[in-house]
Amino acid sequence: MNLRALLLASAVSGALFSFGAQAADMTIGFSQIGSESGWRAAETTVSKAEAAKRNITFKIADAQQKQENQIKAIRSFVAQGVDAIFLAPVVATGWDSVLKEAQEAKIPVVLLDRDIDPAGKDLYLTAVTSDSVHEGKVAGEWLVKTVAGKPCNVVELQGTVGASVATNRKKGFEDGIAGASNVKIVRSQTGDFTRAKGKEVMESFIKAEGGGKNICAVYAHNDDMMVGAIQAMKEAGLKPGTEVLTVSIDAVPDIFKAMAAGEANATVELTPNMAGPAFDAIIAFKEKGTVPPKWIQTESKLYTQADNPMAVYESKKDLGY
Ligand code: AHR
Repeated sequence: MNLRALLLASAVSGALFSFGAQAADMTIGFSQIGSESGWRAAETTVSKAEAAKRNITFKIADAQQKQENQIKAIRSFVAQGVDAIFLAPVVATGWDSVLKEAQEAKIPVVLLDRDIDPAGKDLYLTAVTSDSVHEGKVAGEWLVKTVAGKPCNVVELQGTVGASVATNRKKGFEDGIAGASNVKIVRSQTGDFTRAKGKEVMESFIKAEGGGKNICAVYAHNDDMMVGAIQAMKEAGLKPGTEVLTVSIDAVPDIFKAMAAGEANATVELTPNMAGPAFDAIIAFKEKGTVPPKWIQTESKLYTQADNPMAVYESKKDLGY
């Protein structure tokens, strides 16, 4: 290539750099929990798209809900010498040794959508999560406002035992109803964030509560469990959305379909785009040494039947949920 051609080529590539996608010559490994919910599936899809936008080589390891598989995946990413590791921790404890190994190898770790125990704070660079206590509080406050002083027995479907979001969403809801002695949680059990378990546990709640007659509302830590619970209520001859109020978390398309049909009442949105801000933080850290804040907080928005649920369903239905 002569000098003129070389200069032209470098001018063209310079223009591409300034106006096109960011070019990040990086490999990032993601230890994903699995595909327990529609939200999780969307997070995986969105993460891949966000990596592609930034020209990042992105390796996803699906842990099938098992912490031991996540630990193995992190060790394998360390052995491969990736530039960074993303971790969606299935539970909050038990990460110390493996995260120390990543730290010793000088590989920054970013937590996505769930936290680990505060004792492990020095072992990761940043966490991109929502405020999951706040999500539960928003759900609880919505219920208190909606029942307006009437007595209300609530059954609660919890997420995965030991997951930060399950602990926090429980606490947040309890905070939200704390000032309302008319609203009481009468049963609470894990449905492991899945539709099938949500349905099964709801069936047992209905049996235990006089065929459902004593249940005023269902609070589920995610929409998938609520979709399962709605099915259980319908099969038991109950009318979810009218006789039994529902409030859950995630804002997946199917809950908007249920809202449009009058069978669900409210959901708190959790964005599936945790990876986008995480990639930006890692790029700035690696390229400019910018240390991100310890917590990059994503938004939480309440949706009810008043928010044109069918339009929201249409806008979300092709996003990988
Ligand atoms: O950590 C986020 C939670 O994990 C989502 O709310 C739930 O659907 C998923 O399984």
